[in-house]
Amino acid sequence: MPLQKDENLLVGTEFPDDAAVYRLNEELALIQTVDFFPPVVDDPFCYGQIAAANALSDVYAMGGKPLTAMNIVCFPCSKLGAEVLVEILQGGAAKVAEAGALLVGGHTINDDEPKYGLAVTGVIAPGEIWTKGGAEPGEQLILTKPLGSGILTTALKGELVPERSLAEIIHWMATLNNGAAEVAREVGVKACTDITGFGLLGHLYEMLAASNGIDAVITLEAVPLVAGVLEMASLGLVPGGARANRDYLRDRFVLNGKTGEERDLLLDVFCDPQTSGGLLLAVKKERAGEALLGLKEKGLSYASVVGEIVPGKGNIIFQ
Ligand code: CO
Ligand code: CO
Ligand code: CO
Repeated sequence: MPLQKDENLLVGTEFPDDAAVYRLNEELALIQTVDFFPPVVDDPFCYGQIAAANALSDVYAMGGKPLTAMNIVCFPCSKLGAEVLVEILQGGAAKVAEAGALLVGGHTINDDEPKYGLAVTGVIAPGEIWTKGGAEPGEQLILTKPLGSGILTTALKGELVPERSLAEIIHWMATLNNGAAEVAREVGVKACTDITGFGLLGHLYEMLAASNGIDAVITLEAVPLVAGVLEMASLGLVPGGARANRDYLRDRFVLNGKTGEERDLLLDVFCDPQTSGGLLLAVKKERAGEALLGLKEKGLSYASVVGEIVPGKGNIIFQ
């Protein structure tokens, strides 16, 4: 894509950020983002909820407030019937309403494989934008949702996923990141991203690359996982994207003697592409306890400190 330069384009394509930000005036900037994908679960209403929570998340990851959203729909009406589409759209609309935003339109085309998502517009004060850069040594890394959506939805396709694990991951995928963003604002976060297609480690690496002179130390057993994820991963139900993410990051890992099968499995899980994952926040050490408490109060029961930022060169160290 051509590189766009404009004094009012505060976040454009040269940054690996979650959404674009355009300054309207001194007090107000526009946030724009779009996301859509094929069904990840069988239930059409849940799929709609998940797609909307995922699309809204990029506004929250920038620290913004969503205002309006528009549906993007590809759907085989003659094959699946309009009732299914109605349920998808109702799921999406429910999440947009929960976010306090307005669903103001959309566009639909005929397509063999269904796809659904939204273009979301939000606002933020120009001085309050969070980006992936700006994480500093001493800050704690907090993850607000458990991992596992790529592996569990792969297991679902193979009809191997345990019922409870599926219900749990659907709950987390459909959970808005608004509560997490609210707490992050309260504890003075500056660096933030949401966890989606590049997995925990891929998005963490984006933070390291965008901030200068830092490494991340990850505590393996501190990373929250939905029950059943390790078991499904050990059966080989790992999406291709996880392996691609892991391959891409290969030279960045410092493994510190965690060897063999256990390490291997965890790397797959930490690189698993997430749908509508949580926020990854860099939080000042002295505010981390307050942040965790606030996140749990918002119902984010899995929120955990998963590691720490140290001085370095963009590596991910495991302990
Ligand atoms: Co994002
Ligand atoms: Co996105
Ligand atoms: Co038109």
